[in-house]
Amino acid sequence: MSTTIYYFTATGNSLQAALDIAEGLGGAEVISVSRAGKNVKCDSEVIGFVFPSFAWGMPNMFYDFIKSGNFNKDAYFFTIVICGASMGGSARDVDTLLRGKGAKLSYGKQVKMVSNYDNVNLGCTVENQELADYRLPLFLSYPIKRRFVACAPLLGAIDLSTYLHGIVHVSVGGETGREARVCDYDWVLSLREQCVKADVTFWFKNTGSFFKRDGVIQKINPFKQNSIAKELGINILGDKKWF
Ligand SMILES: Cc1cc2nc3c(=O)[nH]c(=O)nc-3n(C[C@H](O)[C@H](O)[C@H](O)COP(=O)(O)O)c2cc1C
Repeated sequence: MSTTIYYFTATGNSLQAALDIAEGLGGAEVISVSRAGKNVKCDSEVIGFVFPSFAWGMPNMFYDFIKSGNFNKDAYFFTIVICGASMGGSARDVDTLLRGKGAKLSYGKQVKMVSNYDNVNLGCTVENQELADYRLPLFLSYPIKRRFVACAPLLGAIDLSTYLHGIVHVSVGGETGREARVCDYDWVLSLREQCVKADVTFWFKNTGSFFKRDGVIQKINPFKQNSIAKELGINILGDKKWF
């Protein structure tokens, strides 16, 4: 019986699982979806999909892979979802994609392995108060271990104080380019003060192209926007490294 197992892996767990399953089945072709690409044709009688759960779903690359693939409709399809805690709706999503092709999933299970999710920092950009008030309540409602906020391009004064309890880091940058809007240093300093009070690390990344300081707007050379921000010496990064 011909068996093909397609896998995607970020840190190796799903690859190991795919190889173990292939061995357990007495042999199978194990193929990386990142190498296989889209519009794959597969006539095997058993077709497996092994991938990690990302945000309770399948990685986008895997979604595109299945959606674009031409598989033997009568094959026995199985999926094994590798996760740190829960695969969420991943197996159901595979089944939905297959049913759209006239096939169906016969077996779908999750396998809990090591979680790498703790090492992921997720960020949300906010450019002004309106967008902060719109995006940050949503951002804080998601079960993310480490959140950062990027106030970039900074387009106005922002009061983040009610949100900083769930944030570990704030970075700030002005807008760049010929049409850039002004970045006012007072807005930057205010954000820094809020971070000091909340014990959150702070990074003034770049001034942007038009930087207002002490009431004067200066045009800043693109190559100097980062170094000028750094020279102002207002970063609070402790021993943490970001980006
Ligand atoms: C961006 C991202 C999102 C994740 N989302 C989930 C999740 O929703 N549920 C879960 O249990 N594990 C989640 N994890 C953990 C991975 O599924 C887990 O570490 C898996 O073993 C990684 O497999 P890999 O080594 O094949 O990449 C996530 C990991 C990353 C990087």
